[in-house]
Amino acid sequence: MASLPNRLLFIWRTFSSFEYPRDLPLVIGAFRSRHYELCPADIWRIIDTLGGYLRPREAGLLYWAATRWPLAGSVIELGSYEGRSTIVFARAGRFVHAVDAWSLAVPDRSAYRDGQISADDVFDRFKHNLRHAGVEDQVSIHRGLTKTIGQKWNMPCAILMVDAGHTYEDAKSDLETWTSFLLPGGLLLMHDVIYDGFPGATRAASELLDQGWRVIASADSLVAFARK
Ligand SMILES: C[S@@+](CC[C@H](N)C(=O)[O-])C[C@H]1O[C@@H](n2cnc3c(N)ncnc32)[C@H](O)[C@@H]1O
Repeated sequence: MASLPNRLLFIWRTFSSFEYPRDLPLVIGAFRSRHYELCPADIWRIIDTLGGYLRPREAGLLYWAATRWPLAGSVIELGSYEGRSTIVFARAGRFVHAVDAWSLAVPDRSAYRDGQISADDVFDRFKHNLRHAGVEDQVSIHRGLTKTIGQKWNMPCAILMVDAGHTYEDAKSDLETWTSFLLPGGLLLMHDVIYDGFPGATRAASELLDQGWRVIASADSLVAFARK
């Protein structure tokens, strides 16, 4: 049973992340599709020491997606930071295209605590972490703004993970551009929605429900969608 301060924190984070009533169908869909499973301990041990905010149950859902989603093909990951989610996908056997600016020039600098963390250091740690996890050959690195890279992109994917800019404009633009590369039957994952105080990303995720997507699974702030 969670302690009272933790429960209050959960309630505050949840209610500061979505706007009632617009996002309620997303919140209900995610609540009804909760998927509670942990990723294998050897993978969690590697990523637990890295910078980033992916939680155990979220890593579990990523592992489930990578190993159980029936469509073969690579992952496009928008927003890799130090590589927590990248390593889960790669260790689970998927090839990953990691797209990230690793730069303070992004509109949403929250990952770098608004400039207190060096983006170049994070990029160096990302490459080191891939080597340490033994997945260097499983990951192709694309350094730049998701918008710029998306304009020239031409490779399809089976799984798309959206975790780059968390403002409404960034998340909406990423979804508009990058879902076009998802193969029929592909899986879309969005991190930091519903929970954790990112109402912009939550709003963009919520709008997916009017665009032919349905929620199929969720764990904490990670939500998985498939086309209806
Ligand atoms: C929350 S972190 C990603 C966390 C990562 N998925 C993990 O599991 O730890 C967000 C990342 O998105 C990147 N980012 C933010 N806005 C971006 C943009 N417009 N284009 C490219 N990368 C962006 C940041 O550089 C940062 O590394």
